[in-house]
Amino acid sequence: MTQNDQELIEETKKLLVKTYPTQPVVMDHGEGVYAYDTNGKKYLDFAIGIAVASLGHAHPAMLEAINSQAAKLITCQGSYATYPKLACSKLLIENGCFDLVSFFNSGTEAVEASLKLSRKWAYDNKGKNCNEIISFRNSFHGRTYGTASITEKSLSQPFFKPYVPNIHFANFNDIDSVKALINDNTASIIIEPIQCESGIIIAKTEFMKELRNLCNENDIILIFDEVQTAMGRLGTLYAYENFGTEPDIACLAKGIAGGFPVSAMVTKKHIGDAFVPGTHGSTYGGNPLAMAVATAVISELLKDGFLENVKETGKYFVNSLKQLQKDSGKITDIRSMGLMIGIDTSIEIKPLLSALQGNGLMATQAGDFTLRLTPPLIVTKSHIDEAIEIIGKTLKEKK
Ligand SMILES: Cc1ncc(COP(=O)(O)O)c(C=O)c1O
Repeated sequence: MTQNDQELIEETKKLLVKTYPTQPVVMDHGEGVYAYDTNGKKYLDFAIGIAVASLGHAHPAMLEAINSQAAKLITCQGSYATYPKLACSKLLIENGCFDLVSFFNSGTEAVEASLKLSRKWAYDNKGKNCNEIISFRNSFHGRTYGTASITEKSLSQPFFKPYVPNIHFANFNDIDSVKALINDNTASIIIEPIQCESGIIIAKTEFMKELRNLCNENDIILIFDEVQTAMGRLGTLYAYENFGTEPDIACLAKGIAGGFPVSAMVTKKHIGDAFVPGTHGSTYGGNPLAMAVATAVISELLKDGFLENVKETGKYFVNSLKQLQKDSGKITDIRSMGLMIGIDTSIEIKPLLSALQGNGLMATQAGDFTLRLTPPLIVTKSHIDEAIEIIGKTLKEKK
């Protein structure tokens, strides 16, 4: 690191509220699956802002969309229809099980909207006391009051209390624990198909089907928080496609616009109609620039063979990791779907991440122990070979 980088890091640390620990390197630019720091050091970027830069860095389709739409019209009030908004809406609706969409800017906003919509629908259709929401232990849904209130771990932060009331927590993959919480005032159930932030814990298909049946029998809205898992990450456009059932509402963000801040809530029509002008909205949500970029990204994902290739490269990655597991003896578990991959190792996670970064691979932590690998969806087998070599070398070096 140069003297200037060190100064930049120290100066930034003095000015920023400390919501994140500052990394010891300064990132400069990216191209494809690689990111480069200010010293020109090259990193295989398998973090991509936590599953965000789905097309990698500086993808030509994104650059073209940003440049041409920015020169034309960046923003207009949300009540205007625009061609980019129509194009993006069509892609999401025509390629999934939903009828309506609403756009926002971050995952937490999409989840917040889904909670409000489910309560509004329940108020209108089941009575004004019907406002209870069931979430799951070890979930992560965001940082606003609504989304923190359905994230059980947040409740251990007493300084933020009081949280939103009438939220209950069931055990993931345990249908009896859900049944025990259901009553006449249950408005909705919200679940992540994969609990990514708690260590890549995958929902069982049978459990998801039972959840759907339970919601049908009791007129309860089923929400999938697909913020981290949709938009190609699992080898399908939507995450629900892998779990043998359909939700009533899904929340999308992260990879939807490859790093441009966009999120969406998609819903069945009879539920979405509960929102009318004045009940919800967003200043930036659905602006023409955001919509043009999301349209460009989703169009790439839907190109012939793209999603199949995600599945294929995901399998290749996991097979290579299994070989490494045998060779190194330091990998204790591998959990994955598509290109969402979690590895438990016998090495402490934080030093492991630093060592990987030192050796030229960026990855992230999921939960307390898990190494999360979320390569750009354009990754090739040779990039994966390169990553395996770095992981193997790093595991060898670390005790
Ligand atoms: C499942 C899930 N929901 C919601 C969020 C919040 O998204 P954002 O940070 O964009 O607000 C995240 C972020 O990691 C997430 O993984």
